[in-house]
Amino acid sequence: MKGKEEYYDMSPDDFREYGNKLIEWASEYLKNIGSYKVLPDIEPGAIKAQLPEHPNYTGEDFNKIIDDFNKIIIPGITHWNHPGFMAYFNSTASVPGILAELLIATLNVNGMLWKTSPSASELEEVTTKWLREMLGLPKNMWGIIYDTASMSSLHAIACAREKLGLDIREKGLAGNNFPKLRLYCSEHAHSSIEKGAITLGVGRDGVTKIGSDSQFRMIPELLKEEIRKDKEQGVLPFCVVATVGTTSTTSIDPVRAIGEICRKENIWLHVDSAHAGITAIIPEMRYIFDGIEYVDSIVVNPHKWMFVPVDCSVLFVREPEILKRAFSLEPEYLKTKVDSEVINYNDYGVQLGRRFRSLKLWFVIKYFGVDGLAGIIKRNIETGKKFKHLIERDSDFEIMAPAPFSTVCFRYNPSGYKGDLNILNNNLMDAINKTGRILLSHTKLNGNFVIRLVVSGIRTETEHILEAWEIIKNIAHAIPGDQ
Ligand SMILES: Cc1ncc(COP(=O)(O)O)c(C=O)c1O
Repeated sequence: MKGKEEYYDMSPDDFREYGNKLIEWASEYLKNIGSYKVLPDIEPGAIKAQLPEHPNYTGEDFNKIIDDFNKIIIPGITHWNHPGFMAYFNSTASVPGILAELLIATLNVNGMLWKTSPSASELEEVTTKWLREMLGLPKNMWGIIYDTASMSSLHAIACAREKLGLDIREKGLAGNNFPKLRLYCSEHAHSSIEKGAITLGVGRDGVTKIGSDSQFRMIPELLKEEIRKDKEQGVLPFCVVATVGTTSTTSIDPVRAIGEICRKENIWLHVDSAHAGITAIIPEMRYIFDGIEYVDSIVVNPHKWMFVPVDCSVLFVREPEILKRAFSLEPEYLKTKVDSEVINYNDYGVQLGRRFRSLKLWFVIKYFGVDGLAGIIKRNIETGKKFKHLIERDSDFEIMAPAPFSTVCFRYNPSGYKGDLNILNNNLMDAINKTGRILLSHTKLNGNFVIRLVVSGIRTETEHILEAWEIIKNIAHAIPGDQ
């Protein structure tokens, strides 16, 4: 029980003591991360059941909090930093990024205005310029950091709507006799695009999913046809979203061909490259941005494949003044004497308060250097390719999609099998994940259940891929089918 000082913050001495204890904890955790089960083996509700129904009214000893963290919270953690985490698009945190988070929380600045933390604003300007250069993006693109790609794309779609010049910002969409708006993306676009359309009043009905070819890439001719049909019916095409690195297979939409259509039709082109865009740090991967001169906005997530801890997403736009026009309000209480000389980032988005995310981007770029980051990502891609070759060499397995990066889509299809391959592969994935050694995720392609293995973690090396292959093979051969 604490004394009179219970109403005050933890003392600097205690902070040092517990801080050291937690840094020690974090360092041991990362050292032994491979010994944890990637996916916790628990039932829904198991964590809640161990937590008190009501909050404590008097403060607790910090050691007790750390104990509870170890006993209750850790057993319910899915370990994203684990080298065997090969599901979804994994986001791993590098140590420099983790340490930057400590400083971000310690400083606790709110970068809503330049004045509320000049370093936060100016570092965001500088690091986004660095990232633009690292990715080989055009010099006239301007970057801003949001939390996630979902928010970055939402802001891009808002820009596309603002650029129409219909004054929707002032009048709203309801009851003003506006034409129906249409956004186009491929059937493989991420669900965040549809969420953006929902949020901005475009509605799901205002989104047309364009068909894709045998390699899961948007077909530009179908896009052209949909735009033509819409225009004939008085619908206003306002935004196209191309994906460079789709979520299911990492397919690359033909940005150049799509861009030519957008340029001709005067439609905003946004590129969602949340996961794969970061690979453009490697000069040989720059081809993924072919046609970038047609692009109005593009999102990449340093928290997905640049080892910056969640969250950190960067949106680049060619005309930041449109973003500002869409969102800036400047109430009296936010006015400052230097407004005309600085960037007040809250003017460029929905949120007022902003975390100091540029600090972790800065730490990570400075610590690894551009070549260092390129080297790790290159190794990830090579490791992914090694796994693909293992699958290709085994006739009981098949590759289900091209793998331009390090995401491998495959399924088990043993010769002579008469049962339902979807059920077989679903069961196989569950059994693999139950081992706790690796974590894989799935998608459906042309109605087929497909297992995805993604190599984009900072701790994932060839040995982990070899172990993954042993686990997959052994379980596949042992798993009962449904025939
Ligand atoms: C292509 C693509 N875009 C957007 C997202 C959404 O990312 P976030 O979680 O940063 O919103 C994802 C998530 O995996 C994605 O794969």
